[in-house]
Amino acid sequence: MSTQDDNTRRDAIPGAPASEAPSVEEPTEPRLPLVPKPDQSGPDPYSPTGMASRDDHGAAAQQGEHLTTAQGVRVSDTDHSLKAGPRGPVLLQDHHLREKIMHFDHERIPERVVHARGSAAHGTFRSYGSAAALTCAAFLQKDVETPVFVRFSTVLGSRGSADTVRDTRGFAVKFYTEEGDFDLVGNNMPVFFIQDAIKFPDIIHAGKPHPDREIPQAQSAHDTFWDFVSLHTEAQHHTMWNMSDRGIPRSFRMMEGFGVHTFRLIDSEGATTLVKFHWKPRAGVHSLVWEEAQLAAGVDPDFHRRDLADAIESGAYPEWELGVQVFPDTPEQTFEGIDLLDPTKIVPEELAAVQPIGILRLEANPSNFFAETEQVAFHAGHFVRGIDATDDPLLQGRLFSYLDTQLTRLGSPNFSQIPINRPHAPVNDMLRDGFHQDAVHQGVAPYRPNSLDGGCPFVAGEDMSAFIDVPHELAASAKVREAPASFDDHFSQARLFWISLSPVEQDHVAQAYTFELGKCYEQAVKERQLQALANIDPVLCARVATGLGLPAPEPTVPLADPDPSPALSQVGRTWPVTGRSVGIVAGPGSDLAAVRDVRDAVAAAGLVPLVIAATGGTLEGDGGDPVTVQRTFVTARSVELDAVLLAGASSMAPDAEVAQDTKAAAPTSPDVDPRVALLISEAYRHCKAIGGWADASGVLTAVGASPSDAGIVILDNASEAWTGVLELMGSHRAWDRFPA
Ligand code: HEM
Repeated sequence: MSTQDDNTRRDAIPGAPASEAPSVEEPTEPRLPLVPKPDQSGPDPYSPTGMASRDDHGAAAQQGEHLTTAQGVRVSDTDHSLKAGPRGPVLLQDHHLREKIMHFDHERIPERVVHARGSAAHGTFRSYGSAAALTCAAFLQKDVETPVFVRFSTVLGSRGSADTVRDTRGFAVKFYTEEGDFDLVGNNMPVFFIQDAIKFPDIIHAGKPHPDREIPQAQSAHDTFWDFVSLHTEAQHHTMWNMSDRGIPRSFRMMEGFGVHTFRLIDSEGATTLVKFHWKPRAGVHSLVWEEAQLAAGVDPDFHRRDLADAIESGAYPEWELGVQVFPDTPEQTFEGIDLLDPTKIVPEELAAVQPIGILRLEANPSNFFAETEQVAFHAGHFVRGIDATDDPLLQGRLFSYLDTQLTRLGSPNFSQIPINRPHAPVNDMLRDGFHQDAVHQGVAPYRPNSLDGGCPFVAGEDMSAFIDVPHELAASAKVREAPASFDDHFSQARLFWISLSPVEQDHVAQAYTFELGKCYEQAVKERQLQALANIDPVLCARVATGLGLPAPEPTVPLADPDPSPALSQVGRTWPVTGRSVGIVAGPGSDLAAVRDVRDAVAAAGLVPLVIAATGGTLEGDGGDPVTVQRTFVTARSVELDAVLLAGASSMAPDAEVAQDTKAAAPTSPDVDPRVALLISEAYRHCKAIGGWADASGVLTAVGASPSDAGIVILDNASEAWTGVLELMGSHRAWDRFPA
């Protein structure tokens, strides 16, 4: 007997663990292996040496009906060790026991030193061809489609840390092009903390937990981080981005991505151009508010991971346009006075527009987290012909770092043969042997020159699509440990960012600095950071100083006077809302026909409806189809929802007692369930759209809100109320509701 019939499974929200519902009883007969869920995919079938392969990884991956040992021998019992009699002792000859425990003992590999917490998806990149004039890269020619694997991550936290912490997010894309792999290993912020890779261990050691107590986890709100960035002021621009709403994205789907460094493109004639890569999300750039981020870290630490997987499963495929800012490759490598080799600087989009060159769409979830998301190995130095590095000293250091770290993390030099890392282009590298060698190489001459293997592999001749090491003239210089003088400006672009934000975004920045510095112990660290803020903006500095109870220092450098860059603000536009979640709070008195209609309209608009009621099960009684409840007053929390609809009043549920649910302590009126009051008051405070019909107004007044406030639509007609909310959601939040 199935616990969920087909109908309820169809209404179910994304997240079902398997493609078929299980029976309550333990199965007694093997059944054919379950197919993966429709949203899931694995690495494409390629051989360890990049040849299209008939070996379907899915079929190979333990889909059989009967349990075997690692040698393929069927076993009849895996619950009891082989013993000398039922009371033991256990016998040394029990190979099945030994093999099972040995393998389990070695299941863990080191997590990434940075970006340990991440989630990923498969997709396709389609090139518009608009970059074809700049680069001969085959995957950037018109209408070429390239499979990709994309991993998003936080930087500081461990693998098990929460998704919604304040941090930079990684945005790494592996393009499996026909000319080999190109990895664009970027972040959701266009600048970096340091100008030279030699300082990477310093910034990361400062941001990671304190080495004595190993706290705090996945946080920059502690003394060592602020000690470093206040002493090493080139970090101030990136720090300002982290303190802004960009540090707490609403979703991976709603983040911009940046290659950060300037890269060099090479066309088929050998002419070069400098570019910066940008990913622009079709869903717009949106963030959480800080309280939501904190609540989500506890209520749903997997908030971003779940959001990405659910969106893909429900068909709301995330999309980004790839674009480039294009600069002439001049000897100075500057543009409008901005040093293109300094990774702490942006070029405002108003000075160099981002020109779209292709579209990325994520269409499938991984089918195995470890095999794919954990074992994928990106490298900032994986270029294909037509794209190359510049002399940015941060990028140059990265070119060394990734191979090195992956050798340790993945345990052998053959990690490029792991299925998710296999190129989709033939590999004839003459690299041989080593732990975990998957390829069975042929021939006797893995060296060049040779005559025994007919001279193969030959190096590519002209016009044979070889990688291009484009000659690049270097200015005569001396060997020094120095940075160019232009790298000394540490404050002007932090100020540019600050003055480009809307007042509400500036409020959030001031609040974030006040929170983070408020969590520091050392007065000297706070004072030093206030000095840096004074050099960025005296108003910001004064606001943070007030919060810390400290005097605001005077600037020690002249304040820069840049033109604001409106492109840096997230406020003031409207965006598609597909894949967002809408809570529908229903109760015994709700008009179920209206609930059904609105639920179906939400789903039809490409959003995820979550019906919330006092208890689980179904709502029924009006003669129509039962309405499946996806969340109860115990399990629902506002942070999971982008908007809330109230299907009438919400009377007290029988378990609305603090002893049963501490949330029931929320202050309210006797007519409203306190958990619903809490949900609505949080949604109200976080400036989310709220809609309702019938007697919904009473819930709002119970939490001190008014149905006529900004971002609230209470109407007699349920469908019209939903339409009003849908329109409001396009601007992400009811910005006018934030206190002035
Ligand atoms: C613009 C600056 C940088 C950006 C945008 C960046 C971005 C990233 C991203 C997105 C990842 C995660 C890759 C994944 O999902 O597996 C990553 C990992 C990593 N990065 Fe960076 N990074 C930067 C600078 C550096 C520097 C300067 C170093 C070292 C000198 C470095 C060392 C590492 C290491 C060791 C990993 C872990 C790689 C692994 O274990 O697979 N990064 N970086």
